[in-house]
Amino acid sequence: MRMYDLILKKRNGGELSTEEINFFIESYTKGNIPDYQVSALLMAIYFQKMNKRETSDLTMAMVHSGDMLDLSAIEGVKVDKHSTGGVGDTTTLVLAPMVAALGIPVAKMSGRGLGHTGGTIDKLESFKGFSVEMPTEKFMDNVNTLKIAVGGQTGDLAPADKKLYALRDVTATVDNVSLIASSIMSKKIASGADAIVLDVKVGDGAFMKTTEAAEELAREMVAIGNHIGRKTMAVISDMDQPLGFAIGNVLEVEEAINTLKGNGPEDLLQLSLALGSRMVVLAGKAATVEEAEEMLKGTITSGAAIKKLKEFVSAQGGEVDCIDNTDLFPKAKYVVPVAAENSGVVKKIHAENLGLVAMELGAGRATKESEIDLAVGIVLTKKRGDKVEAGETIAYIHSNKEELIDKAKAGILANYEIVEGYENDIPLIHEVIS
Ligand code: URA
Ligand code: CA
Repeated sequence: MRMYDLILKKRNGGELSTEEINFFIESYTKGNIPDYQVSALLMAIYFQKMNKRETSDLTMAMVHSGDMLDLSAIEGVKVDKHSTGGVGDTTTLVLAPMVAALGIPVAKMSGRGLGHTGGTIDKLESFKGFSVEMPTEKFMDNVNTLKIAVGGQTGDLAPADKKLYALRDVTATVDNVSLIASSIMSKKIASGADAIVLDVKVGDGAFMKTTEAAEELAREMVAIGNHIGRKTMAVISDMDQPLGFAIGNVLEVEEAINTLKGNGPEDLLQLSLALGSRMVVLAGKAATVEEAEEMLKGTITSGAAIKKLKEFVSAQGGEVDCIDNTDLFPKAKYVVPVAAENSGVVKKIHAENLGLVAMELGAGRATKESEIDLAVGIVLTKKRGDKVEAGETIAYIHSNKEELIDKAKAGILANYEIVEGYENDIPLIHEVIS
């Protein structure tokens, strides 16, 4: 088999066979095909697309390019949740303790943040001493006894995806439905979940800018998951404004803690319930989503969820006094209000750009090597649909560097659209696909 023939076939709109896809992924992982040929094939796929069978084959070829995590030592149905990446999205920190408090095993592999989106591991490191580094045995033990553990990407999961994603990033071939779906699903399948709940973000702050595109991606991923025998569901949720109020690591952890104590932002709670309830249903612990939501709410009112968070953080070496008293978290030196320039109603908060403003304050990484400042970020006080008077505070900047404040202020003002006579008509949850 020659790579040249695969490129030509796809360029002319042909369908790649299972053998051809396996050949391409195996050879590329081994380093036997140069990047320029793979780039050409990716561009051909970008324009000619792949059908469901090809996408499924590509996913499985990438799964088999490396290790597969064996979670069989964990009792019960392992359900994982994955988000396609949002701004200020703290749902994992809210729903994981709630779901675990119901006795459902949460064995989560998480990542670090890059660019305008945050990562769960960075957020969890807000707890002094917290670590995701542990031997596999301890990880399994923690899940069996506490029902929850969060690990870093261990082993060599889907190495083909790592190489391909890096190449797509520099060849303008990221935003193709088949390539995104296979990339995400290969990692989820390799990390061993029996069932998967996907949070597909739509809007300005997401990969998918329109509901139609998000729907197509969600359907593709659900089809792949179910095709290979992992029960999969997708919730399409709004990323036309940041989720909750906080953007930044410690700030988001505080927001998650408040939510688990019953006084968090409504949208964060609602999305956590929507995703969490589907995890509970897929785990077979509730017959309906409504029943599951009631069970999850019960973990907040009974205190079981916040207790679970403490047990989990403590088991991974983190200090937990800050859960009872959030004043113990590291705080930014400067907390500066941002005042609205005109009166009206908030119509839009450009999530991706606010994510970038937070990144420049130090909350995120511009490159993989950047150091992050856990304490800094942005806390919004006004969200879409809220009335604002000129001069009223719409957000607070949390910064450790005085010289960054003016630029952040300008960035926040530029990304808030305040108009006359707007009524919020965008739902938090657009659709559920199962
Ligand atoms: N996230 C991934 O992991 N892969 C993609 O291709 C896009 C988003
Ligand atoms: Ca938030």
